[in-house]
Amino acid sequence: MHLIKLNPWSETDILETVENSLNIKNHPEKYRHAVGGKNLCLLFQKTSTRTRCAGEIGITQLGGHAHYLDWRTTNFALADLSDEMRVLSAYVDIILARFLKHSELVEAAAAATVPVINGCCDRYHPTQALGDLMTIQEQFGRLQGVKLCFVGVHNNVCNSLIAAGMKVGMEVTVIAPEVNPAAVDKELWEEASRKGLYKTFDTSHEAVENLLEKAVAESDVVYTDTWVDMEFFTDPAFAKERNRRLKKMMPYQLNAELLKSHECRVMHCLPAHHGYEISGELVNDERSIIFDQSENRLHSMKAILLKLLTAM
Ligand code: CP
Ligand code: NVA
Repeated sequence: MHLIKLNPWSETDILETVENSLNIKNHPEKYRHAVGGKNLCLLFQKTSTRTRCAGEIGITQLGGHAHYLDWRTTNFALADLSDEMRVLSAYVDIILARFLKHSELVEAAAAATVPVINGCCDRYHPTQALGDLMTIQEQFGRLQGVKLCFVGVHNNVCNSLIAAGMKVGMEVTVIAPEVNPAAVDKELWEEASRKGLYKTFDTSHEAVENLLEKAVAESDVVYTDTWVDMEFFTDPAFAKERNRRLKKMMPYQLNAELLKSHECRVMHCLPAHHGYEISGELVNDERSIIFDQSENRLHSMKAILLKLLTAM
């Protein structure tokens, strides 16, 4: 069993993982030897703080071992992907892979003979969404019927929130005047909207202020993420597009003024760009659950590792 995207996971798989994440957080000592002696390889093409640390520290806290591979310093960079995945599968019990392209990750998982976890590609970020469900369950005591509004550029994180919401009955509304081309997934969006658990606003038909005001008034959680994915942030070839986006997206910033008369919780997967998609003040506001959310990535990653390492 892999975790490349959430769709193939059942509602039970997801709810059990959320429940186990909370149990692991509350009783870490019970899980100290849960995967004794197992080896996790992290294979990363991109930078990471949370996902990498959650994987490395998480497996260690479960009694296993972690091995970090920066793609660029291995022969993955020059060899046949399937050959290298077969080799890696013979050395370790599970692989956490952060790839640039979803299609390459699918190919890698097909060649692997051990479970592969998507540690964030250009299309999905399933481990983030599972951690976020844990945080929402912890904060609200439920997932069903929780209303989450994602504001920003429709991206990998947004897709995984939609997929997660569709499985557990959480309503996801998206206010996004831009969609990352790699994140276009009409099948997912149509399935989620048929279930009444995903809607998007046409940002060209209504003033931004009205849309945002309505969204925060109707939401339990307001969520945002970077307007430019990490691999493009300092890429000179993307500089013009980055500047265009920053200008276009400024009216969509989450800040204290927007939330001044609302109680909704604020989430961001991090890393955040203060003063762009969210103000620094709001990151640290009492309605922000961003740091609970980032801590929970560790507990949730442990539950994911446990599930995949013990799955029949
Ligand atoms: N949210 C998240 O995945 O953070 P990293 O990119 O630091 O892993
Ligand atoms: N969506 C962003 C953040 C993911 C943690 C990205 O892919 O860079």
